[in-house]
Amino acid sequence: MTKNRKKIYEGKAKILYEGPEPGTLIQYFKDDATAFNAQKKAVLEGKGVINNRISEHVMSRLAAIGVQNHFIKRLNLREQLIKEVEIIPLEVVCRNIAAGSIATRLGLEEGTPLPRSIIEFYYKEDKLNDPMVSEEHITAFNWAATQEIDDIMAMTLRVNDYLTGMFGAVGITLVDFKIEFGRVYEGEFSRVILADEISPDSCRLWDQATNEKMDKDRFRRDLGDVIENYAEVARRLGIMKEMPTVIQGGIS
Ligand code: TMP
Ligand code: ASP
Repeated sequence: MTKNRKKIYEGKAKILYEGPEPGTLIQYFKDDATAFNAQKKAVLEGKGVINNRISEHVMSRLAAIGVQNHFIKRLNLREQLIKEVEIIPLEVVCRNIAAGSIATRLGLEEGTPLPRSIIEFYYKEDKLNDPMVSEEHITAFNWAATQEIDDIMAMTLRVNDYLTGMFGAVGITLVDFKIEFGRVYEGEFSRVILADEISPDSCRLWDQATNEKMDKDRFRRDLGDVIENYAEVARRLGIMKEMPTVIQGGIS
C-alpha cells in the first residue's frame, strides 16, 4: 500500500511515508537491526511485524492514561498511521537499573538498582554518535524550550511508571528505555507529544525470574534468539499468537 506513496524519511529501523491526509504519516517498520551507530547490521526476519504490534499496544495504552502520542491506528502488519510531528532532536533515556552506557560511564555493575529513576538526554545526530547533553545545551542551542523540557521530563516519568507496571505484571523488568518527542502545532501554539516507537529495540527488558535479556541487547551482544525473545514479550503482553506464525507473517 505504500508503493505509490512518497517517502518522507528513512531511518535505520523505520521508514516514514506521506499519509492519506495532511498532518498524517505512515510509519513502516523494517526488519533491519543496527547497533553501535550502524557499525553492526543484520536483517531479523519478523522484527518489524512484532515491533509494529508492540508499539501499537504501548502507545494505545499510554494514550488511554493521557500520555498524548503520535499513534493513530495500525494499518497492516508493518505499518501504522501516525500524526506528523516536528521531531525534537533528542533521545530521552530513562533508567531504573544500571545497564549499558551508564554502567560503563559510571563504573556501576550491570543490574545495580539506581537510587531513583534517572533521565538523560542525548543529542540525536548520528554524525556525532548521539552525544549526551544537558538541559543547558538543549536550551542554549534551541533544541527545546525550558517549558518543553519540563513537559518531556514529566511525560517520561509517567511513561516509566506505567510501563514498569505493565511489564512487571507479565514478569518483565523495565531496566531502561529511550523515547523521542515531537511538536504538533495548533495555530501559533505548539504542544509536545510522544513520537517514534516503544519496542524491544528501544527498551531493556529482563525476565524477572531469570534476568535473561529479552531486548535488543541480544543482538548487540550476540546472545542469539533475538526474534524469539521479542515474540515472547509480545506473547506475554497478550498481543500476539505463537512465534512461528508471526515469523511467517501470516497473521495481522
Ligand atoms: P545505553 O545504555 O546504550 O545508553 O541505552 C539506553 C537505552 O536506550 C536502552 O534501552 C537502549 C536505548 N537506545 C536506543 O533506543 N537507541 C540508541 O541508539 C541507543 C544508544 C540506546
Ligand atoms: N541506534 C543505534 C544504531 O544505530 C542502535 C542501538 O544501539 O540501539 O546503531
